[in-house]
Amino acid sequence: MLAPSAQSPRPSSPPIESAGDDWWHNAVIYQVYLRSFQDSDGDGIGDLQGLRERLPYLRGLGVDGIWLAPFYPSPQHDHGYDVSDYTGVHSDYGTLADAGDLVGDAHRLGLRVVVDIVPNHCSVEHPWFAAAVAAEPAGPERQRFHFADGRGEDGELPPNNWRSIFGGSAWERVAERGGAPGQWFLHSFAPEQPDFNWRHPEVVAHFDRVLRFWFDLGVDGLRIDVAHGLHKRDRLPDHDLAVGDELTGDPVNPHAWNQREVHDVWRRWRAIADGYARRTGRARLLVGEVGLLDAEQLATYQRPGELHQSFYFDFLRAPWEAPALREVIDKGTRTVAGPGAPVAWVLNNHDMPRSVTRYAGGAPGHGAGDVALGLRRAAAAALLLLALPGTAYLYQGEELGLPEVTDLPDEALSDPVFHRTGGARRGRDGCRVPLPWSAVGDSFGFSPDGATPPWLPQPDWFARYTVERQLDLGDSMLQLYRAAIALRHRIPAMSSQRLRWISAEPGVLCFTRGDGFVCMVNCSSQPVRAPMGSLLIASDPETGEKVPADGAAWFLLPGRSAARTF
Ligand code: NOJ
Repeated sequence: MLAPSAQSPRPSSPPIESAGDDWWHNAVIYQVYLRSFQDSDGDGIGDLQGLRERLPYLRGLGVDGIWLAPFYPSPQHDHGYDVSDYTGVHSDYGTLADAGDLVGDAHRLGLRVVVDIVPNHCSVEHPWFAAAVAAEPAGPERQRFHFADGRGEDGELPPNNWRSIFGGSAWERVAERGGAPGQWFLHSFAPEQPDFNWRHPEVVAHFDRVLRFWFDLGVDGLRIDVAHGLHKRDRLPDHDLAVGDELTGDPVNPHAWNQREVHDVWRRWRAIADGYARRTGRARLLVGEVGLLDAEQLATYQRPGELHQSFYFDFLRAPWEAPALREVIDKGTRTVAGPGAPVAWVLNNHDMPRSVTRYAGGAPGHGAGDVALGLRRAAAAALLLLALPGTAYLYQGEELGLPEVTDLPDEALSDPVFHRTGGARRGRDGCRVPLPWSAVGDSFGFSPDGATPPWLPQPDWFARYTVERQLDLGDSMLQLYRAAIALRHRIPAMSSQRLRWISAEPGVLCFTRGDGFVCMVNCSSQPVRAPMGSLLIASDPETGEKVPADGAAWFLLPGRSAARTF
C-alpha cells in the first residue's frame, strides 16, 4: 500500500539517567490504553505485564516514551477515569510492583513513562466520597466535594442547570441517613465520578502527595485529565448556554471550566515537577488535557511556570483540507506554543473516532466510509504530524492504520456516553477495541490461548491489520511510521522549531523545517509537482516527479545531510 523510501535504525537514545533536559521537545510519545494493549494473564483485559512484554515493539517503532491511561483501583465506570485509590494498581492490571518494574524496563530501553492523573473527579468508591455520603449534610466530609441542597419545594430539583459532559444533569441526589432523599452532588462526567472541591486545602494537599508518589516511583511525567476543570465558578450559578458553546464547543456547564484559580494548581504542580528535575537531573513533563477551543485561552495553560504543554485538539478536528490544516498549524505554532512549550500535536486518542475512519467519512454507528481513501489520507496525515515542530502523540493502533470499529453491537458497548444518552451517541468503544498482534489464537494475539474473550469483540477484518503481518510487508502503515520516526530522529533540520511555508498549488501544503527539509501534503484531488530535492519518504508508492492526490512526502534539498552525527 505504501512505500517508505528510507528505513534506518533509530540512533540509540541517551541513557535516561543522564537526560536532564526537556526530553519531550521533538519527542514522539505513544499512548497506551492498557486494557486494550496486551493481555498477559488471559482475562481478556490488557495489563502491565503484557505491556512489559511488548516494550521491545515500542522501542522498535522508535518512540521516545509512553503515556499510560489510568491503571488505578477503580470500579471502571469510565474505564479507570473514576479512581478509587490514586496510589495503587487495579488487580485487573497487575500490582504496584509491576508498575515499578514497567518503569525500570522502559528506562533500560530508553523509553520514558508518563502516567495519567485524574484530579477533577474521583470514583464514588473513593473513601473520601463514601465518608461524605455517610456524613451529615453539614459534615466536613462533604466539603471536599460539591454537595448542595436541591431546588424546588422538597429539594427535588438539581441545585443548578449544569449538564454532564456524558449527557443528562450534572447532579445526582443522595439518600441521607434513614433513607430520605437528601442533598445533591456535582459530577461533570458520569454520576460515578464526583467532582472534587478544589477550594478545599485537603484536596490540594492530597494531590501534592499523589504527584510525589509517582515521581518517587520514577515516572517521567504526568498527563493531566480535564486540566481546564478543577475549580468551579464560586457559588455554582446557573449558566447561559451560549457562553458554553463559544468557549468549549460543549454547551454543558461553562462555569465548571477555565476558572482563573486553576492556574494556581499548575504553578504548584510545576514547582513540584521542577523540584524533582533539579534533585534527580531528570526533567518531568506535565501535559494537560485542556478542552478549550480558544487558542489564546489554551496558551495560558503553558505560560512559563505552568504546564509544559497541552494537547492541541484542533489538529485532530481539522478536515482534510489544506487551508483548514494550514490555519490550525499556524494557530498551533504561533499562538498555542509558548517559550519552551512546544505544541503537543495529536491525531488520535482513546476518546475520538480513529483518523482512518474520520478521513474516510465514516463514524461510529454510521458505517466505515471509504476505508481505502481514509487509509491514504491517514498515511499522509502521519507524515504531516511527524514533520511538525513539537511533540507528536500517537495512539495505539494508529501506527497500524486501524480503522474505527463502527458496528460494535449495542450489548458490547461499555462507554457511559452511550448509556447516558440513551444510545443517541455511540460513545468511544470503537477506538478502544483490543489490538491485533498476530494471526495466533482467537484474539489476534491479544490474549494467550484459551483466554476469556477480549473485553470488546474484535472484528474478523482485524486480521489484515496485525503487527505481525505489517512487519512482514515492506510497504505497510507500520513500516511507514517506523521509517518516518527514524528519519525524524536522524535529520538535523527536524530538530528546528522553525516552520516556513513555501507557496504551493491550491489544496497543497508545503513547508520547510530548519535547513533543507521539506514536507509536502497534497489534499487536492490531482497529482502535483514534487519540490526539488531527494525523496526521503512517501505515503504513496506512486510518488516520484509528482505527489499523488491524498499523498504526502518528505524531501531533502540538495547538499543537506540526512544523518545526525553523535
Ligand atoms: C478525559 C478522558 O480522556 C476521558 O476518557 C474521560 O472519560 C474524561 N476525561 C473524564 O475523566
